[in-house]
Amino acid sequence: MPKRLSTGLALALIASFVAQPDQVQAAQVQASQVQADPLSPTGRWSANTRGVSATPPMGWSSWNAFGMEIDETKIIGVAEALVDTGLADLGYRYVNIDDGWWSQRRLGDGRIQIRTELFPSAAVGGEAVTSFRPLVDRIHGMGLKAGIYSDIGRNSCSQSFDRTSPNLPEGTIEEREIGLYGHVDTDVALFFADWGFDYIKVDACGVDDTGARARLTRGGDFRPIAPIVVRDSVNRSDIPTIRALYQSVGDALARHNPDGDYVFSLCLWGAANVRAWGKDVANLVRTSDDIKPNWGRMLHVFDSAANRPLYAGPGRWNDPDMLYVGQGDFDADHLVEARSHFSLWAIINAPLLIGYDLRDAPRPVLDVLGAGDLIAVNQDPGGHQAVEAYTSDDVQIFVKTLTGEDRKAVALFNRGDGPVDVTLIASHLKFAANAPITLRDLWSGETLAPFVNERTFKLGARETLVFEARGTRALPGGWYVSELPGRVNPAHDGVVQPQADPTIHRAINPYGEGTRSPGSRPIYAGWGGAAADRGPYGQALLVQAQHFDSGIGVLANSRLEVRNDREHVRFTAQVGVDDNTLNLDSEVVLQVFGDGRLLAESRPRRFGQPTVALDVDISGVGIVELVARQVGDPSRPVSVVWGDAALHHAAS
Ligand code: GLA
Repeated sequence: MPKRLSTGLALALIASFVAQPDQVQAAQVQASQVQADPLSPTGRWSANTRGVSATPPMGWSSWNAFGMEIDETKIIGVAEALVDTGLADLGYRYVNIDDGWWSQRRLGDGRIQIRTELFPSAAVGGEAVTSFRPLVDRIHGMGLKAGIYSDIGRNSCSQSFDRTSPNLPEGTIEEREIGLYGHVDTDVALFFADWGFDYIKVDACGVDDTGARARLTRGGDFRPIAPIVVRDSVNRSDIPTIRALYQSVGDALARHNPDGDYVFSLCLWGAANVRAWGKDVANLVRTSDDIKPNWGRMLHVFDSAANRPLYAGPGRWNDPDMLYVGQGDFDADHLVEARSHFSLWAIINAPLLIGYDLRDAPRPVLDVLGAGDLIAVNQDPGGHQAVEAYTSDDVQIFVKTLTGEDRKAVALFNRGDGPVDVTLIASHLKFAANAPITLRDLWSGETLAPFVNERTFKLGARETLVFEARGTRALPGGWYVSELPGRVNPAHDGVVQPQADPTIHRAINPYGEGTRSPGSRPIYAGWGGAAADRGPYGQALLVQAQHFDSGIGVLANSRLEVRNDREHVRFTAQVGVDDNTLNLDSEVVLQVFGDGRLLAESRPRRFGQPTVALDVDISGVGIVELVARQVGDPSRPVSVVWGDAALHHAAS
């Protein structure tokens, strides 16, 4: 039997561990949401809108540059370099202190003490009272913003993984409990209201139990905690509890930042099904374990975010981890790889957080990080993550809708170690095949001669080409919903039992063990989630052999919120059950709601039946909801196709 906690038991655990009434209340609200019919239309947008992240946050973080070896001189030096190099003007504004800053939690009042050997300016009251206010003020004085790091448990990742570091918290067991657990409200108040930070990354090692790494949760010289997150078994992770804990941080951030100017980075490494629910809680959602400066690991973390375009958008971004441009396989001697890494992060709307010691950066590395046209793609205000338009293990093509008529960004990515020919066709771009297409190379700045329908490029090993494409959209006067993933929120994606995604590149374990293990297994749940231009398990969208290049594939018993903002007046789709559905028997009804009112409903559909056309007046509607409700037993959902689902500007 999988060891899952009931919601009641989860609430009791939260009440006993986190003795703060507001957090318990948050958990109860959470539980009642879980119990309500998730398919009932609400007319509301339910993904996170709190904090400030209309576009993916940009800045620098200490971890990939310095690890635990941080200090004030380095942080200030990098902040100055951000300004001096011009990177700050390009949008890199957050200066984030990662693990390693704390000395201990003071007994008595529970205030966290900063390690003053590393941060002398923090000794505002000698050793007795420390504050980051002077450092934060200095960073603010440079026109930048400042970020801090904590853990959702009692202890931090370094206390488990960097055991020889001289910069670990010191003192008794209780004094070394520097994480948020049981202190969410007071710590968040200290970091934001008192010290003035603008950004927090909240890690989860303090509640994590992964085999041999379970040092913190097992006890010994730490107070044991019931493991809440089990990295390699989503079933043994206690999802309601971890979600409620992170929600309590989100609530505290809203309380202690009345101006709303903060960023909440949820760092749960793709565990506990966070790739499905993190978008409802935080601004950044880490989709994988840590990046390392090698090609295979970059592919691994990239894949964990790249196939989740519907789970991100303004206010909520998939986070495949910080940049490693400048180091290892992405250093100044490997600029093809460095540009690929940066191109991929740019086009999938990943946060752009530099992980390099900028005080001493070679010009070519600065040029990669400062590629203005790539940054503009990442920061496009529409917030639409690129959708994969061509898929294979060797070559991928990603297309991202840019703001304005008829503009797309497209990345041609050669994942392999040899040269390859890549042909871009108009339909990858959802452009008309008979009208000219113009490409501008965003790395070289060169505009290529217009072409019609297709053009072939030679890509070197590990090379990525990125273009801004202009053409005539194949759907005049409207947009396919899959072109606008930032407007979609899978409020309920129909997944019954979270399951690990087997399609993510499995790199050699980077933690020193090499191949001395049975290997790298799929661990990040999300398999079967809502998908753009393909089915929930990656297959083509097919109904009765009718193939849809465009559409949404999703399991039944799902509810998708689509932000219309009264812009489009008509919704159309060809709906049916996917030829690749795993359930060949059950019927499903597809419904369209506008601001909570039923506007249209299909006849019941099942495998082997043709599509039904829906043509719906949505004029004046704020939120469109697309609901697929299975008739009868919901335990084996059919796969549903919202084929050619589109929003139109005109009534016909
Ligand atoms: C975890 C996180 C990293 C980093 C380290 C610090 O591994 O995933 O991004 O913050 O902890 O110890």
